[in-house]
Amino acid sequence: MHKVSVLGAAGQIGQPLSLLLKTSPLVSALSLYDIVHAPGVAIDLNHIDTPAPVNGFLAADDGLRKALTGADLVVIPAGIARKPGMTRDQLFETNASVIRDLVTEIAKVCPKAFVLIITNPVNSTLPIAVETLKKHNVYDPKKVFGVTTLDVVRASTFTAQALQISDPKSLRIPVVGGHSGATILPLLSQANPLVKLTDDQRDAITYRVQFGGDEIVKAKAGAGSATTCMAYAGFRFVQSILKAASGEKGIKEECYLYLPGIPGGDKIAKSLGVDYFAVPVEFGVSGAEKALSVSEISKHEETLLATAIAELKGNIQKGIAFCSS
Ligand code: NAD
Ligand code: LMR
Repeated sequence: MHKVSVLGAAGQIGQPLSLLLKTSPLVSALSLYDIVHAPGVAIDLNHIDTPAPVNGFLAADDGLRKALTGADLVVIPAGIARKPGMTRDQLFETNASVIRDLVTEIAKVCPKAFVLIITNPVNSTLPIAVETLKKHNVYDPKKVFGVTTLDVVRASTFTAQALQISDPKSLRIPVVGGHSGATILPLLSQANPLVKLTDDQRDAITYRVQFGGDEIVKAKAGAGSATTCMAYAGFRFVQSILKAASGEKGIKEECYLYLPGIPGGDKIAKSLGVDYFAVPVEFGVSGAEKALSVSEISKHEETLLATAIAELKGNIQKGIAFCSS
């Protein structure tokens, strides 16, 4: 049983994610923090007839410290979201300091907790979280991740739609790289079970996974970006980590992480030329136990991989530079 803290809990992702967590038998207590409305969201959730008590905190009265006390896992969707015409990178100016400040408190209050970063631009905010934890000498590479599960969910959904497969979940497609545009690389050649796609289908699915976020931002016309599908995806990732932490075997999810320090990760980082990259990861009781290689990809995917790495390098450097300034 685990205590989970949600930072940014009153937001459009934070609320449905907290709802799903409140229904999970793996969550023994839920702690909500936001700069607005979190106590009200907590009272609302407390009317649900599941055992986990929910507490909500604002910044006043040391609320962040109280929200983090005793947390086993902290999931962060705090910060601002895109409006039409914006890139994720344009969120950096606001969200970089949000992540640095929240993670600084995590380092002080619950340094052993899992830390899951949803806040964009994930390609840069995860390096900020890692650098912040390193500064406080509490960084455990097995426990700190950028959440890219939505890309994996999209890859299954869009491929199943293209092939008229009724249950998208029956299809598992690794998505590697980062979490923005061309840095997102769905490995359709490694679908399980294998799928047969024309080049046009392959290109259309790849583009839609890479730019699925823009589709929602445009459709919401200024009211936000992906929220309910993100809550679903974030919940899936939290559940996987908690299941593995509870001893369940065979748990595997893709996520964006600092590869050196994870068994198998250093070799992958050296072959790619970047330390941060989303790959399939095997999870165990202490977190990420093994990073799995992304070799044996198609020639077409190799071209996309080179583009992804080139763009990702700048995003990673931007996050690291922010922490050293
Ligand atoms: P939102 O604006 O609805 O909610 C964000 C919440 O964060 C708000 O309630 C706000 O009050 C709170 N907040 C802001 N600064 C804070 C701080 N310093 N401490 C605590 N709370 C703070 O936005 P949203 O739609 O929920 O999106 C949240 C983030 O998630 C965005 O950055 C968005 O781009 C990102 N996102 C990531 C993915 C992904 O796949 N990783 C998917 C969708 C959205
Ligand atoms: C997404 O992939 O939907 C999110 O990263 C939100 C966004 O800004 O597109």
